[in-house]
Amino acid sequence: MDDPRADFLEINRRWWDEAARLHVDTELYPLDEVVAGFDPRRPFEDEEVGAVEGLALLHLQCHLGTDTLAWARRGARVTGYDLSGESLRVARELFVQAGVSGTFVEGPVSEARERLGEARFDLVYTGIGALNWLPDLAEWAGEVWHLLRPGGRLYLVEFHPLLGVLREDLPELDPSADYFYRPEGLVSTDPGDYADPDAVREHSANVEWQHHVGEVIQVLLDAGFALEYFAEHDAMSFSPWPGMERVEGQLRWRLGRGRPRLPLEYSLLARRPSREV
Ligand SMILES: C[S@@+](CC[C@H](N)C(=O)[O-])C[C@H]1O[C@@H](n2cnc3c(N)ncnc32)[C@H](O)[C@@H]1O
Repeated sequence: MDDPRADFLEINRRWWDEAARLHVDTELYPLDEVVAGFDPRRPFEDEEVGAVEGLALLHLQCHLGTDTLAWARRGARVTGYDLSGESLRVARELFVQAGVSGTFVEGPVSEARERLGEARFDLVYTGIGALNWLPDLAEWAGEVWHLLRPGGRLYLVEFHPLLGVLREDLPELDPSADYFYRPEGLVSTDPGDYADPDAVREHSANVEWQHHVGEVIQVLLDAGFALEYFAEHDAMSFSPWPGMERVEGQLRWRLGRGRPRLPLEYSLLARRPSREV
């Protein structure tokens, strides 16, 4: 087999188009409940961001649009952007069913400003399994910068890179896995899917990159952002390990009783300054 890294965008697009079909109406993507009003986002998001009514919000790597819809219901004027056309097809249908308006544009993050044209946003929202699909975070930070109006903010809510160090069968520390970024990335050919335990994929190959917290913060500072907020959270939005306990009423899980409290997600706010020096 050729090295999937040589053509990672096409390999990952196929993987995500297939994922979009598999994810419809799974536990992690309960579309009917979302149409009926369920908010799948993390409960700290509204508090951390504040009011979004009337704001132009871009959701980068929006997948099926479930979180995008929740922001629209809070009053934001939303645009969803994603590599996977099949994800966006589901997202558009979700918005139609919910009777909410939104705009969806297809493309890779590396071409976001080109594909979104003149549009500038008050808030760029992204994360929950987004950065790990991007090989070059300096490029990502540059795209976000150009998509924000001066004074606009990036809100990132992401899985903690510590997850990459934990064993897949048990959340124990496994020192054989890297915490730090490696430019060559990680190729997986697992035929399963994180949201559909019974899936046997036709397109099993994908390519990901681990991005440590220091790297994420430094690329934002280098791009000129002012870091305004950073937090770590002890629950996360999927449950890869046996014995995890679901947080009542939420799409989040903790490691569970008797296990150490570890950072499983983090969130940050970074502002493009109003006046650039
Ligand atoms: C785990 S999902 C993000 C989940 C999302 N936060 C949600 O609301 O469910 C990752 C998304 O990133 C998209 N993606 C992967 N690589 C990308 C790239 N290079 N540019 C744009 N989108 C990409 C995938 O198509 C997928 O929809």
